[in-house]
Amino acid sequence: MSDYENGTSDTCAYQLVREHLQNAQYRWVITGVAGFIGSNLLQSLLELGQRVVGVDNFLTGYRHNLDQVRELVGPGAWRSFELIEGDVRDMAVCRQVCDRADYVLHQAALGSVGRSLDDPLLCNDINITGQLNVLEAARHAGVRRVVYAASSATYGDHPGLPKQEQHIGCALSPYALTKYVNELYAGVYARCYGLETIGLRYFNVFGPRQDANGAYAAVIPQWIAAMIGKRQLVINGDGETSRDFCYVANAVQANLLAAMTVKPAAVNQVYNVALNARTSLNELYLLLHELLVERHAHLRDYQPQYAPSRPGDVRHSQADIAKATSLLGYVPTHDLRRGLKQALRWYEQNLPV
Ligand SMILES: NC(=O)c1ccc[n+]([C@@H]2O[C@H](COP(=O)([O-])OP(=O)(O)OC[C@H]3O[C@@H](n4cnc5c(N)ncnc54)[C@H](O)[C@@H]3O)[C@@H](O)[C@H]2O)c1
Repeated sequence: MSDYENGTSDTCAYQLVREHLQNAQYRWVITGVAGFIGSNLLQSLLELGQRVVGVDNFLTGYRHNLDQVRELVGPGAWRSFELIEGDVRDMAVCRQVCDRADYVLHQAALGSVGRSLDDPLLCNDINITGQLNVLEAARHAGVRRVVYAASSATYGDHPGLPKQEQHIGCALSPYALTKYVNELYAGVYARCYGLETIGLRYFNVFGPRQDANGAYAAVIPQWIAAMIGKRQLVINGDGETSRDFCYVANAVQANLLAAMTVKPAAVNQVYNVALNARTSLNELYLLLHELLVERHAHLRDYQPQYAPSRPGDVRHSQADIAKATSLLGYVPTHDLRRGLKQALRWYEQNLPV
């Protein structure tokens, strides 16, 4: 029996899981597969020789994300992927994608605080009804485990830092509420139906294929696009708002560890996924500027503009990752600087000039 099957070794849990997956093929479902995190999960699973069924309605995801994964993994691995264009609000679609699945990685959601404030009903439908459908379909299909995207937004107005999983405050947006309800539903499915679930509270994930366009774009791609594209960059508030920015490879690691863990105590839990490092928006700007200025001479005289804070935003965010480290063996491979360097390379090659 290997260390992985024994569940005895934590020395490099991710390495053991990757080795196991290279030798055993499972059938995975990724909801939201054409989105930022979903397409990165797809790439990693196909590179590990896994079979994947993906579902997306292309509301905020893109076909070009999937095209890029196809180019990166090559035609052989791509043949192990099946795309079902559909909506997780449609139960028949959820049943179809979960059929014969081993693991479900549920990423589909309306993933923006601002958009949820503009359209709380749509946010509720997709994030709550959609997840409920996925849980129900997974239960009937007898899948081994559902790993779902939770959010640091669930900490709401709780002042404690770094954030520990058991201490949450009041939700500050419809989006935050839906992500907490996801955790409650997952808990109910575990208790009532014995479905294994694990929630991952992502904190400001960034990296290749994150959308840089539109009013709801996240801060890192929005700023990179502005700086490379010679446009004005806006810092909301005084710039001392802070976040625990998490490179997408760390989020992928957390998903694979969560899906594959053989420790009973690790299942039916929620985990913070980030670095346990806090970076203010002013610091983030300076770091991006430092990394970009050598190749983009126009940035030498560049200055950000300051604007009022946005409603629904929490002031500070930093993840205590001790729980993920001790129970899942999660050890982030990318700090902010390393992650930004990789993300910048991608944006420089992929943003229109
Ligand atoms: N990116 C982050 O920093 C972050 C932080 C916390 C939580 N999350 C969560 O992680 C998940 C993935 O986020 P992301 O950043 O990749 O966002 P994204 O918008 O890039 O991806 C979401 C994907 O889900 C798809 N989708 C939306 N509604 C759907 C529906 N009804 N049926 C089928 N597909 C649907 C979209 O088209 C898109 O491809 C979301 O659940 C989000 O709430 C993300």
